[in-house]
Amino acid sequence: MTTTLTDQATVLHCTNLDAGYSTGRPCVRDFNLELKAGEVLALLGPNGAGKTTVLMTLAGLLPSLGGTIDIAGHAVKPGHARHASQAGLVLVPDDRALFTTLTVEENLRLAVTNRKDWPTEKDRILDLFPRLAERLKIPAGALSGGEQQMLAIGRALVQHPTVLLIDELSMGLAPVIVERLLPIVRTVADTTNAAVILVEQHVQLALTVADTALVLRHGTNVLQGNARQLAATPHLIEDAYLGTNEPHHTTADIETAR
Ligand SMILES: Nc1ncnc2c1ncn2[C@@H]1O[C@H](COP(=O)(O)OP(=O)(O)O)[C@@H](O)[C@H]1O
Ligand SMILES: [Mg+2]
Repeated sequence: MTTTLTDQATVLHCTNLDAGYSTGRPCVRDFNLELKAGEVLALLGPNGAGKTTVLMTLAGLLPSLGGTIDIAGHAVKPGHARHASQAGLVLVPDDRALFTTLTVEENLRLAVTNRKDWPTEKDRILDLFPRLAERLKIPAGALSGGEQQMLAIGRALVQHPTVLLIDELSMGLAPVIVERLLPIVRTVADTTNAAVILVEQHVQLALTVADTALVLRHGTNVLQGNARQLAATPHLIEDAYLGTNEPHHTTADIETAR
């Protein structure tokens, strides 16, 4: 049986979100988003568009300057990272934020809330990233960039996110590594039913694993729609990056069978 996204529950709903670094001067304006369980959204846009600002605001690391954020039907207090993470929102930041002097195993184990779950969680993460099994006793700082990213995602997954936010997974990684890692993001969404917001510079690659995509430019949503359709119309994306088109949103057909 194929599941369609429209059958899934809405797990993230944000309305009229204004976000930024000083009151009265939001750099992201009127951001609205509805994400279904298991949906992968590619959040795209040029440097400085506001992608990281959106993720940090959703994760409660920046106070929102207006609007509402709901996770699985519960309002999240803006600017409260702990509240956001308790509600099921987990961020993998672009610097990965690993404990570099601790081993791979220690990094993972520290993220597990309930100590008795550790053996199962460890098996689950090593199934997904067999490469980490050979690296368990090595300090995180000694891993390659790709392995560090696996660890950062693994650490997020042991927290069982309802909504997983991944900021620039490919930062500093060779394209061949990105090609290997991105499909794992798809697998994570399919197997855990987490919704994922994937901020990614490799646009076409991101669109191959995403269900939907949204392009931000100067803090405004200028293009939104089905990932497969957008992949087939690269000129629309290019125009959105360059700011040469009118805002274009087609939210209609995310029900494409996966
Ligand atoms: N710590 C900060 N203080 C003030 N302004 C910031 C800060 N971080 C980012 N900005 C500004 O916010 C805007 C959006 O940045 P950001 O969300 O990092 O963009 P992106 O992730 O899309 O590259 C940019 O104009 C950037 O200069
Ligand atoms: Mg960024």
